[in-house]
Amino acid sequence: MSPTPTPPARPQPSTAATGANREPAPAAPARDIATAPTPPAAGAEAGLVAVTGAEGFIGSHLVETLVATGARVRAMVQYNSFSSFGWLETLPADVLDRVEVVLGDVRDPGSVTGLVTGVEAVYHLAALIAIPYSYRAPHSYVETNVTGTLNVLEALRHLEIPRLVHTSTSETYGTAQTVPITEDHPINTQSPYAASKAGGDRLADSYHASFATPVVTLRPFNTFGPRQSMRRDSHRHRPGRRGPAHHHPRRPAPHPRL
Ligand SMILES: NC(=O)c1ccc[n+]([C@@H]2O[C@H](COP(=O)([O-])OP(=O)(O)OC[C@H]3O[C@@H](n4cnc5c(N)ncnc54)[C@H](O)[C@@H]3O)[C@@H](O)[C@H]2O)c1
Repeated sequence: MSPTPTPPARPQPSTAATGANREPAPAAPARDIATAPTPPAAGAEAGLVAVTGAEGFIGSHLVETLVATGARVRAMVQYNSFSSFGWLETLPADVLDRVEVVLGDVRDPGSVTGLVTGVEAVYHLAALIAIPYSYRAPHSYVETNVTGTLNVLEALRHLEIPRLVHTSTSETYGTAQTVPITEDHPINTQSPYAASKAGGDRLADSYHASFATPVVTLRPFNTFGPRQSMRRDSHRHRPGRRGPAHHHPRRPAPHPRL
């Protein structure tokens, strides 16, 4: 038997980054992210906010609500060959007047940076959300929900944007071990979807701990209402059934700015 090869020396991270010199890591500045007033962002346009996943179920309602509260919204819509802007196409013209649609993809760091440059706050909702489809295409869930969130966090960090609202899910808790589920319920990811969302959450936590990135994570439970997505149907697509185009919202005449 040949001798066990000596493993290559692992590159040592700098002590400044890891605290490997045993000095305590510098604490992130104490700040109650959820309630602290938002300081103005350097170079930000007053009242301008960015939303990822803006064309989706919850995102489109959020865009409407943000506009109703006086914000102007830069809305990321994922590029697609149907030139569809999803549920945004159904919003009234006076709402769309205050919405700048930007085609992009959260997996692409450059398009995320372009989206969030000059905004006061970022609402990150873009995700692949169908649990059954996550069994079929788990890599795409990691790329969108983990790497996509990392790209948002990196952009926040470098542009020093004062507020990120990151949307997670109650799926990260898995089957309830205690009822009601509280924030300290154990994380128990039972699908690739849940695992990818928990991965994004952990990155958000780590950016807050490491760089004081001002992030709040929401974990909604099942959400329902007008424009609800058909995610539970996504595993039932069979030959003979109508495909994903069936799930596209009815498209009225697009607003001139779209
Ligand atoms: N609907 C629910 O019951 C529910 C419950 C808990 C959490 N959530 C979370 O809320 C958020 C919004 O969910 P939703 O129900 O509105 O889903 P949705 O599918 O309607 O919206 C998600 C949006 O993300 C976009 N998107 C997907 N991949 C993208 C990419 N690579 N780049 C840019 N955009 C991309 C999609 O085009 C879509 O518009 C998600 O983060 C989801 O995990 C939803």
